[in-house]
Amino acid sequence: MAIIDRTEIKRAAEILRAGGLVAIPTETVYGLAADATNDKAVARIFEAKGRPRFNPLIVHVTSVEAARAQADFSPLAEKLVQAFWPGPLTLVLPRRGDSKLSLLVSAGLDTIALRAPAHPIARAVIEAARLPLAAPSANRSGALSPTSPAHVKESLGDTVDMILDGGTSAIGLESTILKIDGDEAVLLRPGGLALADIEGVIGKKAKRGGGAKIEAPGMMESHYAPRAPLRLNAEKPESDEAFLAFGPAPLDHPHTLNLSAKGDLREAAANFFAHLRALDALAREKKLKGIAAAPVPSEGLGEAINDRLTRAAAAKRA
Ligand code: TXA
Ligand code: MG
Repeated sequence: MAIIDRTEIKRAAEILRAGGLVAIPTETVYGLAADATNDKAVARIFEAKGRPRFNPLIVHVTSVEAARAQADFSPLAEKLVQAFWPGPLTLVLPRRGDSKLSLLVSAGLDTIALRAPAHPIARAVIEAARLPLAAPSANRSGALSPTSPAHVKESLGDTVDMILDGGTSAIGLESTILKIDGDEAVLLRPGGLALADIEGVIGKKAKRGGGAKIEAPGMMESHYAPRAPLRLNAEKPESDEAFLAFGPAPLDHPHTLNLSAKGDLREAAANFFAHLRALDALAREKKLKGIAAAPVPSEGLGEAINDRLTRAAAAKRA
């Protein structure tokens, strides 16, 4: 049983409230946690993981009430959390319209992945920070999930502000991810909670949504794409286009939102989904012919931004 050091928990909570990154132990694997309501803090997660793309992240809470503030719970979802929370079960649910979570956390999707971890240290940190925490596994992208503080240190080194020691993860496998669609449960990722246990509670078979690439279910989701046509690598917008700028932008173009006027990629990532959505709405309202997106350098988080831009543009053509 992990010993809870109150001073450490308090320090972790302060770092998180200030937008920092803390590696936290959970019963499945260690998570790289940040304030899920803070776009910049969430952008730092992607940066630290060296993720070439924005996959949606799991948001960690300590209670069903806290989860209900972010997502719509169907009776099936209620039944599952009553049976398995806290524990290694993540539910993907429709995001509430009034949710304060960062759009980057759900990669612009209309759904949100929620989980209440059982580890006492994870719970203590969430309570102390009084925040929902976004936390993917605390490893660099493509590396194995960490099950000890030493693994985290090895993989992420100094990019994380603090690593909380909660011993070796008891389960050692990521949580099972189920998408709830009304009264239908779809397995997106097998994990620490056996499917048989889930099916025992719901009284029927779950659908398999994973397929071959189960290690990255997020990639199979239809990601957010604007309804307006998207023109990439636009040095300059046409007069009847909305403009997603990056760096210095023409001051006289009325329908511009700048990802980062100073050319900061972390700021750009933090703004990305919110700006794209806002411009899409603007294009519809003003009857513009589309959205022009300025070139973004493919370094650091720029790679993930370009990945999303390319896919958003392709989805439009498809
Ligand atoms: O055990 C775990 O689940 C650990 C601990 C730290 O809680 N976390 C974890 O997070 O494994 P991560 O980011 O490595 O995996 C989250 C998976 C991603 O593959 C992502 O695609 C999927 O969850 N996911 C998150 N939100 C989703 C959504 N709205 N729709 C579909 N898939 C989603
Ligand atoms: Mg992972």
